[in-house]
Amino acid sequence: MQKIELHDSYNRRLNYLRISITDRCNLNCLYCLPELKVPKLSHDDILSYEEILRLVNIFVDLGMSKVRVTGGEPLVRKDVFTFLERLSRIDGLDDLSLTTNGLLLKDNLDKIKSAGIKRLNISLDTLKPEIYLKITGRDSFHQVMDAIHQSVLKGFSPIKLNVVALRGINDTELSDLAALSLKNPFHVRFIEVMPFKKHKTNEAPPLLAPEIKKGLQKVGNLVPVANSIHDGPARRFKFEGALGEIGFISPVTDHFCKHCNRLRLTADGRLRLCLLSDIQIDLKTPLRSSCSDSDLAALITQAIKNKPFESGLTTGKNIQISGHMSAIGG
Ligand code: 5AD
Repeated sequence: MQKIELHDSYNRRLNYLRISITDRCNLNCLYCLPELKVPKLSHDDILSYEEILRLVNIFVDLGMSKVRVTGGEPLVRKDVFTFLERLSRIDGLDDLSLTTNGLLLKDNLDKIKSAGIKRLNISLDTLKPEIYLKITGRDSFHQVMDAIHQSVLKGFSPIKLNVVALRGINDTELSDLAALSLKNPFHVRFIEVMPFKKHKTNEAPPLLAPEIKKGLQKVGNLVPVANSIHDGPARRFKFEGALGEIGFISPVTDHFCKHCNRLRLTADGRLRLCLLSDIQIDLKTPLRSSCSDSDLAALITQAIKNKPFESGLTTGKNIQISGHMSAIGG
């Protein structure tokens, strides 16, 4: 049977849905929180698991095959493991992964594995406990490191470590973080900080991929790795002879919009067409009125036509969007 494909008006194939299941998080990372305090969503505001599963079934029928569960921190939501298990049983969903900060990971690895998750993305911006505290507001570095090592033993693969590059905060340890990929099967991914906050003129310029990459030369020679179909926007490399990989996610210096294959579903049921644009479509209201699955599918197909071609994020330009990562999902 020929697989249905979902394309936007620029003929980009959309096959990847990122679902934020909660806006709550047990960390307060510097780069993630909004400038002004945003009230947390109420229980009624957020989609129930039933509602999310119904939508995912519709998205999969439309041609999406890859789902990532994010937050906030997804593991803080009650009964998340049963939800993941139900999600992984959806026919046609070939790839299910989870982004987590790792705080609640260690004791739940078996449950996550038996729920059908094979791939994990874990945030790790530093190798120094005191810097971890400074970035996240919690003294939990060892807990996360321990969970990361346990994830390897439990057979999760790949394990991607997300490092947001922060000048003046973790810039002196990026090569140590990269060196983790030498003897461990980790994919260490350096992410250019996205300007969710207004850049202040007295602030140091953001640390961008070319500079990060140059700094990694002291660890070894980076050889490019071919992309595979489920790859996101990361540019992949490997140190010669390393077990793991290095990736660069460069929303500022590399316009990967051309290859964008993703849509986002926010915790309160809005379909977001681009991380860095405020265009979003309310799916919760129709979902909670008597809309049929085919009405919802039609609404989604129509909405996708408005997916912007570019995020508008270019070097030196500060975009301002009303969302923030803890609500939209990283
Ligand atoms: N810029 C870049 N990446 C961010 N993340 C969160 N906020 C930002 C930001 N402002 C990413 C981090 C984190 C994931 C959940 O989202 O990589 O690990």
